[in-house]
Amino acid sequence: MSETDDKVIEEGSEETREQADSGNAGDEEQSKGLPTLFFFIGFIISLVVGWVVFPAILYSSKKQPVDFNHVIHMELVDNGCESCHFFREDGTFSGAPRLAQCVDCHEDIQTESENEKVFVETYVSNGIEVPWYIYAKQPDCVFFSHAAHVKLANMDCVTCHGHIGESTSLREYEENVLTGYSRDIWGAKLWNMLTLKKEPWERMKMDDCAECHLEKTGRKTSIQTQKDGCLVCHK
Ligand code: HEC
Ligand code: HEC
Ligand code: HEC
Ligand code: HEC
Ligand code: HEC
Repeated sequence: MSETDDKVIEEGSEETREQADSGNAGDEEQSKGLPTLFFFIGFIISLVVGWVVFPAILYSSKKQPVDFNHVIHMELVDNGCESCHFFREDGTFSGAPRLAQCVDCHEDIQTESENEKVFVETYVSNGIEVPWYIYAKQPDCVFFSHAAHVKLANMDCVTCHGHIGESTSLREYEENVLTGYSRDIWGAKLWNMLTLKKEPWERMKMDDCAECHLEKTGRKTSIQTQKDGCLVCHK
């Protein structure tokens, strides 16, 4: 009740102000401009809310438990990416590295780095696996096979992941507060969420998987064209 009252009073006072203004011939133009000005202010506020504030609160950021520098490690390991991300004998992909890929070199702290200290003291010494956040993580209903893409289709990691393998630091993981999806699924940039993406790794929604499948395999796994196709990517 009181809210409406306030509004009426406000509107009333605006009108009075406007009437007072229009009484002054010199200000005639300004009075016509005033509603337009208010419209534009409101318009800009709603744009800011829609394009900046809403997307910002849509995601919650989480720091990785330990930061990891791909560049320095690539100089130290013998077997490139496969030293840490490899295919097991049964064809499954090892995914995020486990402590076994790190302990040979990290039994003891060897640098001044606070980050390494946390890694060794919290995880290595206690034999606890690092609970890495997976940027590319798909919902549980999705079936994805690295072997099909990397071994059979000979695809490069960069095609789907971007340049994480050449980074010196792990970026924050962003989780959609509504769906629990990683930001990488709908895309980091606002325009990715609409329709645009410049690089294949900028978004990995169902349509993006299907689009490439149609183009590369010619098999109609698109949801529109072949209903049976769902089980290609869904458990
Ligand atoms: C010494 C071990 C090591 C080596 C070598 C290594 N990585 Fe990683 N990689 C990691 C760790 C640790 C993470 C963090 C865990 C994570 O995010 O999955 C990671 C994460 C990633 C991710 C992010 C996966 C995700 O969605 O979260 C990609 C992609 C990746 N590495 C690609 C590469 C590529 C490409 C190379 C070779 C150029 C490479 N890595 C070499 C240890 C390694
Ligand atoms: C081949 C040996 C080797 C392997 C394997 C290795 N590291 Fe390292 N790591 C090093 C060395 C050497 C440094 C110090 C590099 C420097 O600062 O010059 C280091 C540094 C680090 C640091 C601190 C760097 C910083 O900038 O804060 C972290 C954290 C780390 N490693 C985590 C890992 C993890 C996690 C794995 C397993 C996925 C791993 N390392 C595997 C040799 C290795
Ligand atoms: C066709 C796209 C594609 C290619 C190519 C690809 N990945 Fe992935 N990767 C994904 C997807 C999608 C996921 C998430 C899978 C899931 O959540 O079920 C993933 C997950 C991962 C993970 C985290 C797995 C985990 O849960 O522990 C790592 C690490 C990774 N990929 C590294 C690599 C590396 C290294 C290469 C190159 C050898 C590579 N990927 C090639 C799409 C791809
Ligand atoms: C940039 C291209 C590309 C993207 C993106 C892509 N795929 Fe694929 N995918 C392929 C190709 C090519 C094959 C066929 C490999 C073969 O059999 O030679 C394939 C095969 C598969 C297979 C094996 C089943 C079959 O048809 O034989 C599954 C499962 C799969 N993809 C799931 C996914 C999922 C889920 C995503 C999205 C998260 C995805 N793919 C994204 C190119 C892609
Ligand atoms: C080429 C791979 C692929 C095919 C084929 C595919 N999907 Fe999906 N689907 C995905 C991926 C990846 C996601 C997760 C990302 C997203 O929500 O877009 C998903 C998400 C979904 C979701 C939302 C699930 C959730 O938890 O949010 C539904 C529902 C769904 N798919 C239904 C279907 C149906 C029905 C079909 C067949 C008509 C189908 N999908 C075929 C890859 C595929």
